[in-house]
Amino acid sequence: MLPWRFENMKIAVIGAGLAGRQHIQVIQNNKMCELDFIVDPSNESIEFCKNNGFSHFSNVTEALMTQIPDGAIIATPNSIHVENALDFIDRGIPILVEKPLSSDSESALSLVQCAKKKNVHLLTGHHRRHNKIIREAKDTIDSGQLGRLVTSHSMCWLFKPNDYFNSWRKSISGGPVLINLTHDIDLMRYLIGEIESVHSFESNANRKGKVEDSAVVSLRFKNGTIGTLSISDTIVAPWSWEHTSGENPIYPNQKESCYWIGGTHGSLELPKLKSWKSLNERSWWEPIQSNQSPTDNNINQPLSAQLNNFISVVQGKEEPVCSGEDGLKTLLVIEAIKLSAKIGKAVKPKNPELKCF
Ligand SMILES: NC(=O)c1ccc[n+]([C@@H]2O[C@H](COP(=O)([O-])OP(=O)(O)OC[C@H]3O[C@@H](n4cnc5c(N)ncnc54)[C@H](O)[C@@H]3O)[C@@H](O)[C@H]2O)c1
Repeated sequence: MLPWRFENMKIAVIGAGLAGRQHIQVIQNNKMCELDFIVDPSNESIEFCKNNGFSHFSNVTEALMTQIPDGAIIATPNSIHVENALDFIDRGIPILVEKPLSSDSESALSLVQCAKKKNVHLLTGHHRRHNKIIREAKDTIDSGQLGRLVTSHSMCWLFKPNDYFNSWRKSISGGPVLINLTHDIDLMRYLIGEIESVHSFESNANRKGKVEDSAVVSLRFKNGTIGTLSISDTIVAPWSWEHTSGENPIYPNQKESCYWIGGTHGSLELPKLKSWKSLNERSWWEPIQSNQSPTDNNINQPLSAQLNNFISVVQGKEEPVCSGEDGLKTLLVIEAIKLSAKIGKAVKPKNPELKCF
């Protein structure tokens, strides 16, 4: 029997846009929780709540004067994550904050520190960590089947239509490095290890906006592995996690891979979960064979698994799969990537352990 207040954990969703509405759907499909209320000042959201019979508020302060949820998911624009999150943390309410944790590491650090000081659970919504494919890939890597990891390559090439940028995404926090690459970086940290240094190049030659439309990054991991990432929101191509994983139905699915991880005894391509190893002796003159694990339809599975983890963390049964500290560390790598592109030199991500933990 669960403690009474968690039999049906009441969860508020702050920001009912693209991401927030997916969280709302996943909450509604989960028997362990229920939607408490939605906060979003937009007319579309007022209409959306009215049509669906959801309790609605236009700002967090007003909402928390009326209703106290058991937890909240923050899915507002990046630059106001921290301001919204602190309102909940101040009242001891656990939160899951969409990625990136904030649009800058200074405010993200203050959020992590505040949650730690007040002993409130803070999770980051890097939901790909919860994908079954990634869990299996992590098991394969951790089991040593690939041998010593040597190198990795990640692709995120996709094309965003012009009207995508008619919003806050036009601003400095709306480029693909902060919006998309943050997921890929988080996964590489999760699968391979902490990143020691990065060297990157950015371009806005196609969109000519304030932010990059494309970037390439070289990585050195602390365990000696080296890697590369390539990202663009202005290329028509199938090679991105968005298009290949099948986890989000809004992206037409392509049966391709977008991550390649290589070791001394084998290699792995994802999301196909196809592993390669030598049949006999390891040699470029000897045949190699592949093995592909079956993968099923993954639609919204990672978001559901992430929500289950949030509920279990609040119940004291599990540790966060992606904590606030994880969100901060990923953001510090992203900032190092931005700085490297600006100064044209390799940059080491700041170590958050220096001051705060
Ligand atoms: N995990 C993922 O794969 C994923 C996917 C998409 C977006 N995101 C993240 O989710 C967040 C939201 O992105 P989106 O694409 O849904 O943006 P969006 O613009 O579609 O939605 C943001 C919503 O927040 C609302 N909002 C603005 N100010 C608010 C406030 N003060 N209080 C409450 N609501 C407010 C807006 O009215 C809007 O409805 C971003 O941090 C983004 O990076 C994550």
